[in-house]
Amino acid sequence: MKIRTLKEIANLKGKKVLLRVDFNVPLKKNGDVQDDTRMVESLPTIKYLQKKGAKIIIVSHLGRPDGKVKEELRLTKVAKHLQKILKKQVKKVDESIGENVEKAISKLKDGQILMLENIRFHKEEETCEKNFTKKLASLADLYVNDAFGTAHRSHASTAGVAEYLKAYAGLLMEKEIKHLSPLLDKKIPRPLTMIFGGAKIDTKIGIIQNFLKKADYFLMGGALANTFLYAAGYNVGNSLYEKDKKDIAQKIMMECEKDKDKFVLPHDLIVASEISDKVATKNIPVEDVIGDMKILDIGKWSAEKFCNIITKSKTIIWNGPLGFCEFKPFQKGTEAVAKFLAKSKCTSIIGGGDTADSLKRLKINPEKFTHVSTGGGACIEFLSGEKLPGIEALRQ
Ligand code: 3PG
Repeated sequence: MKIRTLKEIANLKGKKVLLRVDFNVPLKKNGDVQDDTRMVESLPTIKYLQKKGAKIIIVSHLGRPDGKVKEELRLTKVAKHLQKILKKQVKKVDESIGENVEKAISKLKDGQILMLENIRFHKEEETCEKNFTKKLASLADLYVNDAFGTAHRSHASTAGVAEYLKAYAGLLMEKEIKHLSPLLDKKIPRPLTMIFGGAKIDTKIGIIQNFLKKADYFLMGGALANTFLYAAGYNVGNSLYEKDKKDIAQKIMMECEKDKDKFVLPHDLIVASEISDKVATKNIPVEDVIGDMKILDIGKWSAEKFCNIITKSKTIIWNGPLGFCEFKPFQKGTEAVAKFLAKSKCTSIIGGGDTADSLKRLKINPEKFTHVSTGGGACIEFLSGEKLPGIEALRQ
C-alpha cells in the first residue's frame, strides 16, 4: 500500500501543520487521563515535527459529544497530560476554528504546539460539511494524519481536509499499516478466531458481518455479548444491551448455526447488583440471570472454553474487554483469556483503546502479543479488507 508519509516532506521549517491524532483516551472519574497509550504512540510524530521546526496544530476528538459542547469532554486535561509526557509546552484553545484560533496560531513559533478543542463539538466534523472542512484546512499549510484509531471515519478532520491540503501519514499511522498489512485478507493464517467485547455494538456488528466468511470462530463477551444473549432469548436482567439490534444479532447467529461452536456466547457469567469495586459477585449459568442482575463479565467456564478455542487457532484478533475491566470484580474473564493468549504461539492482534487499557490494568506486557493496535474499529475494519477513508486520503 503506497501512501505519502511525513518523512517525504522536504522542508517543514516554519510550516503550519494540521496534525490529526486520536487522543480519544479513557478518562478517570475526575477527567484525568486514565490510559495514555494512544498519546505515547503519537509522540514520535510530534517530536519529529518539532525537531524539524514545524508549527504544530493538534486536532483530536474525545468521546461522542454529538456536535454539542460537553464540558467533561474538553481536551484541556488531555493537553496538560501531553505537556507532561512531552516535557514541552502545549498551548490550548477552547475552540477549533475561528478568529481566536487563528490568533493563537499566528503567535506560534517554530516547533511550538497548539491543541484545538474537541473537534466533535462541531456537528459539521462528522458530516464532513464543506465550509467547516475548508475553514479547518485554512488554518494550516500541510496535513498530517496520525489518527489510525479514527481512520475508519470519513470526517472533516480525518479525511475531508485532504481535499484542500497536501496530506501525509504520521509515523504511528505508518507503523500500524506496516504491522497490519501482512495480515490482510487471504494471508491471515487459519483457523482465525475473532474475540469481541466492549460496548460499541454499532461499529462492531458491521465488522462481524464482514468476517462471517473469513473467520472460523467468534468468541463474544462484554456488553456486546448481552445484546446477542438477549437476541437468543435469554433474560439479561438489568444489563447493558441494545434492544434495537435484536434482528441483526439473530441473523448473524443464524448464519453461523451450521458450524458447531463457530459463534460462542458465554454460557456462564459474573453478575452483580451494581458496578463498584466492593460489590459481591456471583458466577452463574446464563439461564439463571433474573430481575435486576447486571451481567458484568464472562464466567470462569466460558473463559476456559475461550482458551480451548485459542489453542486450536493460528490467528486471534481481539477487540474489546470481556468484562467491565475498570472495576476489579469484573476483570477475571479478560485476565484469564489475555494471560492465556500471551503465552500462546499464534499470531495475536489486540485492538482498541479500552482493550489496551485493560492490559495495562492487568499488568500484562503488550509485547507478548504480535501487535497491539491503537485502533479498535479501525484495526478490524482494516483487517477485514475495507478501505478506510483516513488512509485512502493519504494514497499516492
Ligand atoms: C475509537 O476509540 O475507536 C476511535 O477513537 C473512534 O471513536 P468513534 O468510534 O467514536 O468514532
